Amino acid sequence: MISFFLADIDGMERHFRRNVINGIGGCKSANLIGSIDSQGRENLGLFSSIFHLGASPALLGFQMRPVHEGRHTYHNILDTGHFTVNGVSMAMHKRAHLCSAPYAREMSEFELCGFRPIYRKDMMAPFVAESPIQIGCKLEEDLEIALNGCRIIIGRILQVHLEESILLDDGCVDLHRADIAAIAGLNAYHPIGAAESQPYPAKPLSKNQP
Ligand SMILES: Cc1cc2nc3c(=O)[nH]c(=O)nc-3n(C[C@H](O)[C@H](O)[C@H](O)COP(=O)(O)O)c2cc1C
Repeated sequence: MISFFLADIDGMERHFRRNVINGIGGCKSANLIGSIDSQGRENLGLFSSIFHLGASPALLGFQMRPVHEGRHTYHNILDTGHFTVNGVSMAMHKRAHLCSAPYAREMSEFELCGFRPIYRKDMMAPFVAESPIQIGCKLEEDLEIALNGCRIIIGRILQVHLEESILLDDGCVDLHRADIAAIAGLNAYHPIGAAESQPYPAKPLSKNQP
C-alpha cells in the first residue's frame, strides 16, 4: 500500500492532491443542474455531489464550491428558488462534461452542449429532456461551511419524472437500466453495472452470519 499522512497531503502538488482527494470518496452519479435567472437566461452545470437527505420530507442536497460572480447555478437558485437535477446517462456524458466549463451569463449550456430544455408545471427551472431521471426542487436551505467557504444547498423535491422502464415495482430506480454515469474524481465516467440486490437488514445480524 502507499500511505499519505497529513504532511504528505499538505505537500502534494495541487492537481495531484485534488485528484487523490476527489477520487478516494468513491463514485457518485453525474447530474446536470438546470436553472434560470429572473431575466430568463437558462443555465446548466455539472455536479457530482448530489446526495439524498431523507425521504420524508423528500430532500436532496449538493455541495457548491465557494461562490463568486460566475457561479450561475448558485445565483439562479437564489433568484428563483427553483432548480432541477437531471441524471446524466453514458450516452450524454461527453456533452454533459462540457457543462462544467465556465461560460458567459448570456450563453446557455443547453444550446452550447446540445441539450433540450423542457418546462413543466409549477417549476420555473428547465429540465433536461434527454435525461432519464428528472427531479424538480425548491430551495430550502443554503449553508456555508466555515472551514473552506463551500456551501451545502438543500432542496425539497417537488416533482420527479422517470423513464418508465427504470422504475421497479418496489420503487427502486434501476440506474443500470437508465445507463446513468458514475463519476470518480473530476473526469472519469463509469457505467453502472447490474445490481446485486440484498434484502433489507431488518434484524441485527448474529455473530455467525456473513
Ligand atoms: C465531474 C465534475 C463534477 C463536478 N461536481 C461539482 C460539484 O459537486 N459541486 C460544484 O460546486 N462544482 C462541481 N463541478 C464544477 C462545476 O461543473 C462548474 O463549476 C460549473 O461551471 C458549474 O456551472 P455554473 O458555473 O453554470 O454554475 C464539477 C465539475 C466536474 C467536471
